[in-house]
Amino acid sequence: MDLSQAQSGLSLGFHSHSSSNPIPLQLLDQREENLVEKDENQAEEEENFSILGHPMCIKRQRDGQSSSSSSSSPNPPKRVAVEPGLECRRAMVRGWGNQSLPVADPEIHEIMEKEKQRQVKGIELIASENFVCRAVMEALGSHLTNKYSEGLPGARYYTGNQYIDQIESLCCSRALAAFGLDPEKWGVNVQPYSCTSANFAVYTGLLLPGDRIMGLDSPSGGHLSHGYYTSGGKKVSASSIFFESLPYKVNLQTGYIDYDKMEDKAMDFRPKILICGGSSYPREWDYARFRQVADKIGAVLMCDMAHISGLVAAKESASPFDYCDIVTSTTHKSLRGPRGGIIFYRKGPKSRKQNMLLSHGDGSVHYDFEERINFAVHPSLQGGPHNNHIAALAVALKQVATPDYKAYMQQVKKNAQALASALLRRKCKLVTGGTDNHLLLWDLTTLGLAGSVYISLLLLYAFVYICTCLYSLRTNILPQSVMYMVVCVEIM
Ligand SMILES: Cc1ncc(COP(=O)(O)O)c(C=O)c1O
Repeated sequence: MDLSQAQSGLSLGFHSHSSSNPIPLQLLDQREENLVEKDENQAEEEENFSILGHPMCIKRQRDGQSSSSSSSSPNPPKRVAVEPGLECRRAMVRGWGNQSLPVADPEIHEIMEKEKQRQVKGIELIASENFVCRAVMEALGSHLTNKYSEGLPGARYYTGNQYIDQIESLCCSRALAAFGLDPEKWGVNVQPYSCTSANFAVYTGLLLPGDRIMGLDSPSGGHLSHGYYTSGGKKVSASSIFFESLPYKVNLQTGYIDYDKMEDKAMDFRPKILICGGSSYPREWDYARFRQVADKIGAVLMCDMAHISGLVAAKESASPFDYCDIVTSTTHKSLRGPRGGIIFYRKGPKSRKQNMLLSHGDGSVHYDFEERINFAVHPSLQGGPHNNHIAALAVALKQVATPDYKAYMQQVKKNAQALASALLRRKCKLVTGGTDNHLLLWDLTTLGLAGSVYISLLLLYAFVYICTCLYSLRTNILPQSVMYMVVCVEIM
């Protein structure tokens, strides 16, 4: 706030508890050159209110008086007003505050309209994107963005959060309900701004710097936030910069995860967190096998179900909750909510004997994730939660729990399978030979085209917008880059 521009002629009175006489408190230096000197006839308005139990009063000149000076006035003021009157200033602020986007900022509005056209005119087949419904959009673009609410429901740093608390609590209970989780056994944090930050919050809460994590290699379809460094050793993601990561990979002939190699690597590397889930893996995950390995090495088993969380909620994919200790997700992919992240963690008594390797793995019979993860999200990594996002997520999660959503997810899978069959009929090569979920990997090298060229052709000659997460596997068998295209089919 630029106080130098604030209203002159406004003074704040402070009543002490012991006295009923307001102590006048001049908030601002009066700027002589702009100040209207007080007409003897001008009356003052007094407004009383209280802040944190302290009675206060505002004294202001009654509107219109300051500019009412004219030569015809019997008692003209000594100087002429140069600032608009209070009502005028109020009207200006109200007018500005109530302007619609096209009026307030036609430039941004016009670009936004173009983007809307782009979204509706093409066929978007990006596995990690979706279209939120109108109710989600309304909650996102709402007054909830105005409120600060650092902390958790019932324990905030700011006052005035009674409704924000209700919204976040409802969002949490809907999140648990959407995945059929018992609130006695699972807790959830809905505040992460993204899934990358959700994952990092898990590592921050559970690990010490330099501790080890292991996830699917990014070029094999994993995600950067599970740890990634280049073949030259350059650490790309923060999860590799602050923790030590070693990836497991897919079998380059079959495209399936090589579980035996994963186990061998995990036995040698002994990560404290073993991560399943990825960005471009078209098949079911063998969570039971991951659990076995995690138990052998005393690791926490975490699943990042970002891509398939909608399918999991609709029971159209196997559930990681049956085997994992921690489950994270984006909220904007198949879940069809606003852009953000979410963390589920086990709580209460451990369901079986687990000797986790974590520095705090003290043989306790209770999970201790809740406090660690909540503390990592805030205050360690984030500030105030985005309440408009949390409300929008609550709206989306309500829909996720309905039979309509299940029907939608079933259709998504059918669409993906229809596209896979059509491509296979045309002799296209799909990695793993097909798909179990909403995405498929199309090996473009058999067409003799680099993926980028192929996409350019699609953009030019078909108004189909198929996209992308192209990656290359450098192998001994195929010395050149092998391009795959990730396609998501989420249209009804
Ligand atoms: C498995 C997985 N985890 C995390 C992310 C990152 O999500 P965000 O963009 O919300 O950080 C993605 C995004 O594609 C993902 O596929």
